[in-house]
Amino acid sequence: MTWIDVGADFTIDMDRDIDRIGIKMTQKIKIGVVGCGVVATAYYLPYLMRMDNAEITAVCDLVPARTDSCVRLFGAKSAYNDYYEMLEKADLDAIFILTAPGTHVPFTLAAVSAGKHVLIQKPMATNMTDARTIAQAIRTAGVKAIIEPSSQSPLDPDVAHLRELVRQGVLGDILWFSLGATGPTSYGPALGNNPYGQAAFYAADSGGFLFDLPYAPANIVSVLGPCASVMAHASISNVQNSIVPESEYDNFLAGVTDPNQANYWDAVVDLPRTQPVRMQAVDNAYSLYEMRGGFAGACHVGRIYHPVLPGTGSGSLQVFGTEGNLIFGAGYSASIISTRKDLLPQLDDDGWYHIPLRGDRSKAKWPQPTPGAFNYYHASSQHLVDCILEDREPIPNVDWGLHITEMMCGTLESSRTGQKYAMTTTLTY
Ligand SMILES: NC(=O)c1ccc[n+]([C@@H]2O[C@H](COP(=O)([O-])OP(=O)(O)OC[C@H]3O[C@@H](n4cnc5c(N)ncnc54)[C@H](O)[C@@H]3O)[C@@H](O)[C@H]2O)c1
Repeated sequence: MTWIDVGADFTIDMDRDIDRIGIKMTQKIKIGVVGCGVVATAYYLPYLMRMDNAEITAVCDLVPARTDSCVRLFGAKSAYNDYYEMLEKADLDAIFILTAPGTHVPFTLAAVSAGKHVLIQKPMATNMTDARTIAQAIRTAGVKAIIEPSSQSPLDPDVAHLRELVRQGVLGDILWFSLGATGPTSYGPALGNNPYGQAAFYAADSGGFLFDLPYAPANIVSVLGPCASVMAHASISNVQNSIVPESEYDNFLAGVTDPNQANYWDAVVDLPRTQPVRMQAVDNAYSLYEMRGGFAGACHVGRIYHPVLPGTGSGSLQVFGTEGNLIFGAGYSASIISTRKDLLPQLDDDGWYHIPLRGDRSKAKWPQPTPGAFNYYHASSQHLVDCILEDREPIPNVDWGLHITEMMCGTLESSRTGQKYAMTTTLTY
């Protein structure tokens, strides 16, 4: 029995009184964030600072101005400019790896060998040797790991619901599917290439736009199940690009006073792109994915540099089956038309079942514009902490990450050899 002395004539019996008087013992998971760039300041840190059961124990970036801003804006308790020093000196339970892709493998290996749980921003790796090395290290260490992006994973209740409908036969036998992923064109004027981030999106070890958009294979797998093989054509199609100079990000952060207004995307799309940058990795890939369910479809990842006409473009995921069609986009999260009306909760006048777009899902800021909007950065932060506290296996776990990563690596390999690439990983999902 534990006794707390709260004054001369009043004591609390922790075992007896804790529920009655509503005291909650909250264990806080101590988080270290490496990489204080755009994804950290726009999405993760504004959420982490508000979590009941987590604290931002340390932040780390090569650029001191960025760590200073994160201490000032998000209340990070300590700051480092060397990752390995943070690992050694800070008392951390988990590391959020939010740096450019080239660092994900060494940073993950160092974190898990120190017994830390990890959240790894996408891509997990850009080749299967690295991906398998990370996966093995995580399993051996017995730590929890979330592999982003979780946006098109069953962590999103809408995605889990769609997968269940497909399993129940809402589309009948699937005939074919198609998906065109063009990246950040949804940011109004930001047609074309990523407006910043030489290391994150253009360098040879970034994986290029192919590995910037694991959302595409994840979207396919999340509703249609695992992939069996890949035939592909991949290229560097547009070598000369231009981006906003990196210093603009630091200018932006220095001027932010409200942590809810630290989303650089709101500013960068309108800034002049004066810095030339060469694309050194694949920016254009067509993959023909054969799925374990016995059907195939095409997936294109690339960029569109000029406007398209309304209703056209490279296209969200569309799936066509003997009993119905499933269409993502068009103002909804997803819509289904099916002869299996018994499986659909409600239909509009034209017979479609719509899952509404709940806010601007992936870009939703804090506080969320629409109650219940799924913001993947927030959802995975909370999920990792919950999985640590409750000793549960995360949903977008190592197996998930390995399979999505192999779909992109398979694209590279098939394009290189001209042969079909047979997947070596699968999912029970
Ligand atoms: N920006 C987004 O909207 C977004 C969305 C989803 C995922 N991501 C992913 O997040 C990751 C980071 O992207 P970003 O847009 O934040 O890039 P960024 O370039 O804005 O940020 C990366 C940060 O990492 C720091 N860094 C680089 N090497 C380091 C090292 N050795 N030690 C410590 N810090 C180091 C850089 O100084 C920079 O501040 C990428 O893998 C990207 O694919 C970004």
